Amino acid sequence: MATRAMSVDELDSLLEQSREQNARLNVTGILLHSGKTREFMQLLEGEQDVIESLMQTISNDQRHTCVDVMYHDRIEARNFEDWSMAFRLFDKLDPKLIEGYTTFNTNSLPPSLLNGRNSRARSIMKSLSQNL
Ligand SMILES: Cc1cc2nc3c(=O)[nH]c(=O)nc-3n(C[C@H](O)[C@H](O)[C@H](O)COP(=O)(O)O)c2cc1C
Repeated sequence: MATRAMSVDELDSLLEQSREQNARLNVTGILLHSGKTREFMQLLEGEQDVIESLMQTISNDQRHTCVDVMYHDRIEARNFEDWSMAFRLFDKLDPKLIEGYTTFNTNSLPPSLLNGRNSRARSIMKSLSQNL
């Protein structure tokens, strides 16, 4: 969750910085951001040690807080192979894809949605990778 609301310029420079570095690290993925809840949701693909160290860097970034890992998988092939970091505004995603999830923050989610949180995130990412 962003520490404070981020302007378009701030998001742009975050993306530019991420894309440059990810290209260098052979990291791919997608970043989602909600202006409403200030949440980020991100998928990172790459070599395990590279991803672990990048996650450390990202977690320490003062621009956001409450970073948590929803899932990690070993994969045979990347889903975002052409994207050093794709970007979508969460609030603009197809409501059918979101299915009642206006937040993924465990503190804000109603108990009825808490259980499905990780698999929902996984299926949103999968679906986005097929519609880029
Ligand atoms: C939500 C969010 C997502 C980020 N994603 C990436 C990313 O995918 N790749 C990246 O290199 N930096 C990303 N960053 C920026 C890093 O936290 C960090 O600022 C950047 O890697 C530069 O780190 P350095 O100064 O240690 O080189 C992200 C930051 C935030 C707040």
